[in-house]
Amino acid sequence: MADQSLLLRESNNSTRVNAAIVVLVRNIEVYELRATMRQLEDRWNKKFHYPYVFLNDKDFTEEFKELISNSTKSETYYGLIPKEMWSYPSWINQTKAEECQNRMEKSGVIYGDSLTYRHMCRFNSGFFFRHPLLDPYDWYWRLEPSVEFACDIDYDPFLFMENNNLAYGFTITFYEFNNTIPTLWQSVRGFMQEYPQYLTPKNVANFIIDNNGDYNLWGDAPVHSIALALFLQKSEIHFFNDIAYKHNLLEHCPDDRKKFHENGKCHCNPVNSVDNHRHSCLERWFKA
Ligand SMILES: *[C@@H]1O[C@H](CO)[C@@H](O)[C@H](O)[C@H]1NC(C)=O
Ligand SMILES: *[C@@H]1O[C@H](CO)[C@@H](O)[C@H](O)[C@H]1NC(C)=O
Ligand SMILES: *[C@@H]1O[C@H](CO)[C@@H](O)[C@H](O)[C@H]1NC(C)=O
Repeated sequence: MADQSLLLRESNNSTRVNAAIVVLVRNIEVYELRATMRQLEDRWNKKFHYPYVFLNDKDFTEEFKELISNSTKSETYYGLIPKEMWSYPSWINQTKAEECQNRMEKSGVIYGDSLTYRHMCRFNSGFFFRHPLLDPYDWYWRLEPSVEFACDIDYDPFLFMENNNLAYGFTITFYEFNNTIPTLWQSVRGFMQEYPQYLTPKNVANFIIDNNGDYNLWGDAPVHSIALALFLQKSEIHFFNDIAYKHNLLEHCPDDRKKFHENGKCHCNPVNSVDNHRHSCLERWFKA
């Protein structure tokens, strides 16, 4: 890694933060990713040149690397995810796991039959930041293929976060499908009882916990949202209202017509914003 961090320092101007855009992606998603990068570059990164780190559980093809490195002037790094970060841990009974998976598939649970989905969730919950390619960085921005950015981002969100003592930023918050995570909350409760010393005293747990102590289902990445609600204070978490973000059917589009639309800054329709939908947790976030 030494040579890479050197490279970063050399190309650093004084105001740039030590950060990378991190993408978990498969070779077959190269065109969806190019579309996303084109928007992110045009809307933001062409002014800042933050590097990209691409991770995959299979080797990236030469074609992928060529098409992707040609989509940005920034440095691009391509990493293989080691097997132990993309599999079941040794103590899991895989016969039982397969039985559960079959049961979920039969009862129509979304991603019920997908082993890849499970490995992906485990990797994104516990491992992505331990991948050696991320060692040089203090900050990451998670990007996914097919995401669209509909507004200009004229400033550096990384620098904004560093200057404001923030730890986490998001654009969308909505209730998780309960049947994809039947035992998650039970495990979190067990953790809280066993390790109360790790919980932040002024945490924002009331964002995710109902009056009766039940988990109220928050987040497209519930492990991240539970962790930040327990370990951070509200003042350390930022809702990036000004970053329009669309992933498949889910979309955030800022509302303020004068500030975002009349001046040509955005090309999304605020009516489509998930913020107005009953599945959104944004109201709950403001109240927390
Ligand atoms: C992509 O490749 C073309 C043709 O080789 C080249 O002209 C262009 O500058 C490249 N773009 C980037 C961002 O590397
Ligand atoms: C693993 O799960 C299967 C199916 O539930 C069960 O029959 C078996 O006893 C379990 N094995 C161990 C070692 O617990
Ligand atoms: C989610 O599912 C669990 C386990 O089936 C259940 O105990 C819990 O009450 C459900 N929570 C909500 C909010 O529906």
